Amino acid sequence: MECSGPGGLQLTEFMAEKMRLRPGARLLDIGIEHGYQTCFLAKEYDLFVIAIDPDDDRIDGVPHVEHLQRNLIDWELADQVIGLKTGVPDTRFAGNTFDFVHSTTTLEMVRGLFGVDFYRECLAEIYRILRPGGIFGLGEPMHLDVSIPPDLAEIYTRGGGVGPEGWADCFATLAETVDLCREAGFHILEADYAPDAWEWWTQFVLNDPHCKADPEGEARVIQQDGGRWLSYGYIIAQKPVE
Ligand SMILES: C[S@@+](CC[C@H](N)C(=O)[O-])C[C@H]1O[C@@H](n2cnc3c(N)ncnc32)[C@H](O)[C@@H]1O
Repeated sequence: MECSGPGGLQLTEFMAEKMRLRPGARLLDIGIEHGYQTCFLAKEYDLFVIAIDPDDDRIDGVPHVEHLQRNLIDWELADQVIGLKTGVPDTRFAGNTFDFVHSTTTLEMVRGLFGVDFYRECLAEIYRILRPGGIFGLGEPMHLDVSIPPDLAEIYTRGGGVGPEGWADCFATLAETVDLCREAGFHILEADYAPDAWEWWTQFVLNDPHCKADPEGEARVIQQDGGRWLSYGYIIAQKPVE
């Protein structure tokens, strides 16, 4: 099944187990592309889900939430999931609304495009809209806490990637990201690099439609990395009960 980021439904299952999702809970999914992971979460864990994504698909120009809508009908989930064309940080949800917030392979893009202060604003918004005791599951590409190998420094900081300094603008270490979550007020329950991170990246190169269409682009960079610098990290964080 086509999923947009590394890990696909394996990542979603991994995150769901770590977050200890429970039936009947209200979950916000941030950055959904076509919504396969959203549908999986709603169906497998019997959740009520609000799914947000502000953008249109790069290939067909159709809003991601419209792709979600089509999938909701296929998955018979139309009464369990609502898609909204909006994003972080300006969600406009009331405070203390959600039991869970899930976001994978999205906030690092926002960091790359708009900088770390904008990333902080996104975390502050997620904190605001979670109810006290609610859980935030964050998964994103992160780099290992090692010096970047010189051959990779050149390609990750080449302009024309996401930020002005290329792809390197998107990625932080696990420790840096944990610090930002703590700064936003979260209590960290668990944080680590995913044990299967490199397998997820390998599968991504083989299956992602953009990688297949442009094997000399992002796919080549990931292959050259070979797990020396790029990884995938996750953080399970709780909004403290006052
Ligand atoms: C790489 S996809 C990740 C999809 C999926 N969550 C996954 O793990 O594969 C990133 C998604 O984030 C969306 N996005 C970009 N900026 C956003 C924002 N400010 N708020 C919410 N979603 C955003 C993009 O439109 C895109 O669909």
